[in-house]
Amino acid sequence: MKISGIIYNFVAEYTLNSTISCNAHLENLVQNKMAFNYITAQEAAAMINDGDTIGLSGFTAPGTPKAIPNAIAERAEKEHEEDRPFKINLFTGASTSDRCDGALSRANAINRRAPYQNVPDLRKRINSHDAHYFDRHLSEMAQEMRYGFYGPVDYAIIEAAAISPDGEIILGTGVGNVPTFAHMAKKIFIELNENLPEQLHGMHDVILLQDPPYRREIPIYKASDRIGSPVLKVDPSKVVGIVRTKFYDGVKAFSAPDEVSKQIGANVVRFLVSEYRRGGIPKEFLPLQSGVGNVANAVLYDLGESSEIPPFMMYTEVIQDAVLELMQKGKCTFASTCSMTFADATEERLFADMDFYKDKILMRPAEISNNPEVIRRIGVIAMNTALEADIFGCVNSTHVLGTKMMNGIGGSGDFTRNAYISIFSCPSVTKGGLISNIVPMVAHPDHSEHSVDILVTDQGIADLRGKDPVQRAHEIINNCAHPMYRELLNDYLKIGRGGQTPHVLERAFAFHNAFNETGDMRNASFS
Ligand code: COA
Repeated sequence: MKISGIIYNFVAEYTLNSTISCNAHLENLVQNKMAFNYITAQEAAAMINDGDTIGLSGFTAPGTPKAIPNAIAERAEKEHEEDRPFKINLFTGASTSDRCDGALSRANAINRRAPYQNVPDLRKRINSHDAHYFDRHLSEMAQEMRYGFYGPVDYAIIEAAAISPDGEIILGTGVGNVPTFAHMAKKIFIELNENLPEQLHGMHDVILLQDPPYRREIPIYKASDRIGSPVLKVDPSKVVGIVRTKFYDGVKAFSAPDEVSKQIGANVVRFLVSEYRRGGIPKEFLPLQSGVGNVANAVLYDLGESSEIPPFMMYTEVIQDAVLELMQKGKCTFASTCSMTFADATEERLFADMDFYKDKILMRPAEISNNPEVIRRIGVIAMNTALEADIFGCVNSTHVLGTKMMNGIGGSGDFTRNAYISIFSCPSVTKGGLISNIVPMVAHPDHSEHSVDILVTDQGIADLRGKDPVQRAHEIINNCAHPMYRELLNDYLKIGRGGQTPHVLERAFAFHNAFNETGDMRNASFS
C-alpha cells in the first residue's frame, strides 16, 4: 500500500487533500525496526564533541528527545571535572524540558541557545551570560538556519514513534524545526520512544519550504488543510544510532485557575462574545491561537461553555488539555498545531482514543504552524500573555523589569503582528500589588502599539482599535489598570509636555525605578 499525495521534504511542491493509507505502511515500519544500529544514550553522547551544534525535534516537552540530552549533560559534567571544555550549541523548536534544558544548564553545557526556553536553570545561565541565548520569532528560526545565519548542524536528535529502513519517521507529539535540522545535520540520532503509539501516523504534516527567491505561497486556506507528508523522510545513511526510550513528556497537570486568572479568562470571553454578537467576527467564527498556561486554558474552557460561540477551529502553536475536552463536546472541530502539550494523564486519554482524535489534529513544523502568511490569510484571532503593557499599548513579553530574560518571545510576535484581532492579557498587578503590570512605558518592547488591538486584565477590557495614543491611555488606565495605580498613571499623563505620544522620557521608568529602589512601584511619584 502506498501513501498517496505525499510531498516529502526537500520538495517545494504542494498537493492538497492528500489521502493517507497507512496500515500496510505502518507494518513496514514496525517490522523493520531492527534495521538500524541500536546504541545507548551514553554511547550517543560520547560521539558528540565540544562545540558541536545540535538541533532537537519537538516543541515544548512533547516531541523533544529525553535520553540523549540528559546523557550529554552527564558527559559535560565529567569533562568539566577533568578541566576539559565541553559545551554544545543547542537549537530547538521552542522550550524543551528539565531533562534537556534543565540538565544541560546545571552542567553548564550550553554555549549558544535559540529560539525559546522556559526552564529556571537555563534562565539563570542566560541572565549570567554563561549561555548565549538569542531570542527569535519561532516562525523564523528554521529558515534562518537554512540561510546559514547560525552555521552548520552537526547532529539532529529526533524523537520518533517509528522509523523505516529507508528513513521514514513517524514523529512524536511535537514537530518544531525538525525537518530543517534533519535536512542540515551531518548525522542523526533517533530516540525511539516506546510510549508513543504508531497510530500517530497521519497526525503530522511535514514539509520543508523552499527558500527565497524560489519560495511559493503556502496553500493553507483553512486550518485543516494538509500540505505535506505524514512522515519525516531522512537520509538513512545519516542515522548513526537509535536509542530506545520509554518516557512520558512530563507535562504537569493544570492547577485550578486562581480568581485573577478566572477573571481574565472571563473578560477575554466577554470580549469575544460581544465582538461576535456585533458582527466584528464572521458568523462562521475564526480560528483561534492561544498561548500556554492557566489563563489560556481557562479561556478555552469558558469559550466551550458559551452557547453563542459556534464550533471553531484552532490554528495555533500548542494545544493544551482544554482542547481535548472541547473536541469531545464538538466545540473545537479541528486544531492545527506544532505540538500537543498535554499533561501526561491527558496524553494517555488521547492515546486511548486515537480513532476519535486522529482526524481532528494536525502537527506541523513551526514555520508552518506560526507562518505569518497563513495567519493573516485565514484570520487567526491571537490570544497571548504579557509581562507588562504600557498605557499607550506596547507590550513586554520577555524581560522582567527590562533586564532579566524570562522565557522569550516565542510565537507571540508571529501571531500578534498578523492576527485578525490580537488580544493580550495579564493580571493588573503582580506580587500582591508591589508591581503594576500597567506601566507608563514598557521597560522592553516586544510588541508595539501598532500590533496590539485589545488588552485584557482582571479589571476589564481595553479596546485600542481606532484610538490615538492619549485615548488609548485613558482606555487602558480606566479599564485595565488596578485601582491602586490609576491615579499615579493619570499623574504621569498629566506631566506630559505634548506630542502625539506624550511620554516624559526622564520619568518614563519611574515605576520600575521605584520598584528597584524600594521594592514597591506605588512609591513612584510624578509631583
Ligand atoms: N514585572 C516583574 N515581574 C513580573 C511581572 C512584571 N511586570 N509580571 C509577572 N512577573 C513575575 C510573576 O510574579 C512571576 O514571578 P514568580 O515566578 O516569582 O512567581 C513570573 O513573573 C511569571 O509570571 P506569571 O504571571 O506566572 O506568568 P505566566 O506564566 O502567565 O507567563 C509570560 C507570562 C509573559 C512570561 C509568558 O506568557 C511568556 O513567556 N510569553 C512569551 C511567549 C509567548 O507569548 N508565546 C506565545 C504563545 S505560546
